[in-house]
Amino acid sequence: MIEQFKKDVVEGLGQKPKSIPSKYFYDALGDALFIKIMNMPEYYPTRAELEIFKEKSVEIIKALSMKKDVFFELIELGAGDGTKTKYLLQSLLQEGYDFSYLPIDISATALNDLEAKLGCEFPQLDVRKKHGDYFNVLETLKTNNHPKVILFLGSNIGNLTDENSTKFIYQIGANLKPYDKLILGVDLIKSEDLVRPAYDDPHGITKEFNLNLLRRINKELGGHFDISAFDHAPEYYMHEGIARSYLVSNRAQEIRIESLDRSFSFEKGERIQTEISRKYDDKIMKKILNETDFKIVAKLTDKNRYFADYVLSRS
Ligand code: AVJ
Repeated sequence: MIEQFKKDVVEGLGQKPKSIPSKYFYDALGDALFIKIMNMPEYYPTRAELEIFKEKSVEIIKALSMKKDVFFELIELGAGDGTKTKYLLQSLLQEGYDFSYLPIDISATALNDLEAKLGCEFPQLDVRKKHGDYFNVLETLKTNNHPKVILFLGSNIGNLTDENSTKFIYQIGANLKPYDKLILGVDLIKSEDLVRPAYDDPHGITKEFNLNLLRRINKELGGHFDISAFDHAPEYYMHEGIARSYLVSNRAQEIRIESLDRSFSFEKGERIQTEISRKYDDKIMKKILNETDFKIVAKLTDKNRYFADYVLSRS
């Protein structure tokens, strides 16, 4: 893990334009900051998707068209605290489906908490947690022949470029059987006045989340970043549909990172790209799915149409 982090930082800061992969946001502090982000009024995606699962779980289940008497596996990539999924689990149990729930997450703490919570709320539910990076656990999907429903919620796919999300969704499909399903939650393209505050909040939480990357390099790699010498600078244009986050060096500086035995120079105003957060519409979704073996079975949205959960079938 640390070796990969070093490699990604050397590569990312050594190139122009500079970048650092967004997956490094999520250490213990980053996890806590992201929970704060999800609770901000400006960060609409969480509430919008929660509304979909609260109000449309029954519709989602219909679209899945699973047989009640055939056991299946419900697998969630990046389960987190399972707040949205709980509504789906409840409806599935109420309707008498025969299934196990397999949450996958890189945070062991999140998985343990989720298991404990579900054990109290749904004692009859079979939960089999898996700890790991969901990019690496896809192959393990093939270990049995049970029908499968994969959940990939929260617009986590939005952190990937269209090219990489196409590859990833293709990979999921390649590890599934015909009629297996994928529920993909994505943030929809909408105007700047709605999206920008979600990534540039007045509380400064997203700024701290972004700067945490530099703190992490300082802590784990012996970096000498002066946090106050960098500003949070997000960007979003509706015509492009991609929110991008940057850290901008507010002066010319040379930063040494001990464990890499290297320094990196920054010009005044030079940016490090730290995240892309893609927003979607049907056209983009169809273009991506065209390169995979998934078809859209249903699209569920919240009342405001801020967010969509696509039910996809492999056929
Ligand atoms: C967890 C990737 C869905 O892109 O909206 C929130 C992460 N970054 N605020 C997103 C994030 C800045 C979030 N995802």
